[in-house]
Amino acid sequence: MIIIIKEDYEELSISAFRELESRIKKKSKMVLGLATGSTLLGLYQNLATVSDLDFSSIVTFNLDEYIGIDPNDPRSYNFFMQENLFSKINIPEKNVFIPYGLVHNAERHCEWYEKEIEKRGGIDFQVLGIGGNGHIGFNEPGSSFNSVTRVVDLSEKTRNDNAKFFDNINEVPKQAITMGMKTIMASKEAMLLASGANKAEIIKKALKGPITEDVPASILQNHPNLTVILDKEASQNL
Ligand code: GLP
Repeated sequence: MIIIIKEDYEELSISAFRELESRIKKKSKMVLGLATGSTLLGLYQNLATVSDLDFSSIVTFNLDEYIGIDPNDPRSYNFFMQENLFSKINIPEKNVFIPYGLVHNAERHCEWYEKEIEKRGGIDFQVLGIGGNGHIGFNEPGSSFNSVTRVVDLSEKTRNDNAKFFDNINEVPKQAITMGMKTIMASKEAMLLASGANKAEIIKKALKGPITEDVPASILQNHPNLTVILDKEASQNL
């Protein structure tokens, strides 16, 4: 594991951008795993504005999506990705995969999602944020390290954390589709980003604590090729 500590969020975002840029320049046909959340905004902004990168042969798989939210709803992760990245780069629509929140047969949809990843040889580079309770994607505490893409129940902590994007807590979906822990760990390379003092405690647990399903991100200690980029505040307990 390589840990890079940057002065602030802006520098963290530039550093994450440089890491990803160098991988895309090396492999123009890469399969990229993407995440949502406010931490990723700076990276996506850099990718969309600073860069002249060619995304025409890149395929992306997003980690997760809320169940019951229309993909065109501004609160969906699909909308977040279109708004902050995909509408600003030259990625073909057919190369973008995000779980579908209004799916009828979720089990079959999850199996299909896993197969699509597999068909392309797996994820080359997985970008990750971290939830306040240590979740990655929407793999909440207690998620099996052997899990694959599936429907999950969201914890009260996660629903409360994410309530800021909804009118009130009752509107926050209770379920989501997420790529599994095993799927994430199968990525050839991964990059975890965390910013701010409110992530300091969970970052310490995830990177230095015991590897346990109670702290999903702790499994990343076993990832063969992981880069962690933190700002000073998020690293303060290490
Ligand atoms: C959501 C996403 C996670 C993300 C987390 C952190 O719950 N499902 O993939 O890592 O938010 O979000 P933020 O970066 O806003 O703290």
